Amino acid sequence: MVDHPLAAARLTAMRDVLTEPGAFRAALGELTTMLVYEATRDLPVERYDINTPVSPTEGVRVAVPPLLVPVLRAGLGMADPALGLLPESSMGFVGLARDEKTFEPRAYLESLPTDLTDRPVIVLDPMVATGGSLEHCCRLIADRGCTDITVVCVLAAPEGIDRLAAAGLPLRLVTASIDERLNDRKFIVPGLGDAGDRQFGGM
Ligand code: PRP
Repeated sequence: MVDHPLAAARLTAMRDVLTEPGAFRAALGELTTMLVYEATRDLPVERYDINTPVSPTEGVRVAVPPLLVPVLRAGLGMADPALGLLPESSMGFVGLARDEKTFEPRAYLESLPTDLTDRPVIVLDPMVATGGSLEHCCRLIADRGCTDITVVCVLAAPEGIDRLAAAGLPLRLVTASIDERLNDRKFIVPGLGDAGDRQFGGM
């Protein structure tokens, strides 16, 4: 859990039904920067020599830049801010849409490197509701040999956290909030509605 006044203020803007899509996207972008900053706190670095204008010194760089994987559509709004913090990273894409009858994810895009051995991966999706979408996405990544998956989300429901914890996948979850529950349509309560629709409009 990232517990910070500025993160809480951005999250409040995202929850507010009166927030227009432009302000919603801005709040998501700023919150993503804060969440990815916290999620990368323990990233290994390597030392190398540089010169300042005054003298030689030693500096650091990220040893193995993580692969970033936004989950379409809603994760798209997190892609650019994450890449801004990790400019050396490359990006894969997974497209998932939740079937609103079965609540299970339907995959329509998988664009990932075939081998993710020894490569950390950061998955970006604002919402963990039932956890089905993130479980599917993380399984695709683990099947390619990854043993270090960080899911960065804005909101998680306890039901989704339990499902991901039981999935037996090598993942950790970084979130700005654990909300109360899911309603009978499997929407997060209090939540923020549909993060894809609120950024890009209804389908
Ligand atoms: C939302 C959200 C997650 C998923 C969460 O996407 O962005 O990917 O639902 O639900 P789950 O945890 O129950 O699987 P949605 O399927 O609405 O697609 P969208 O991003 O295109 O709006």
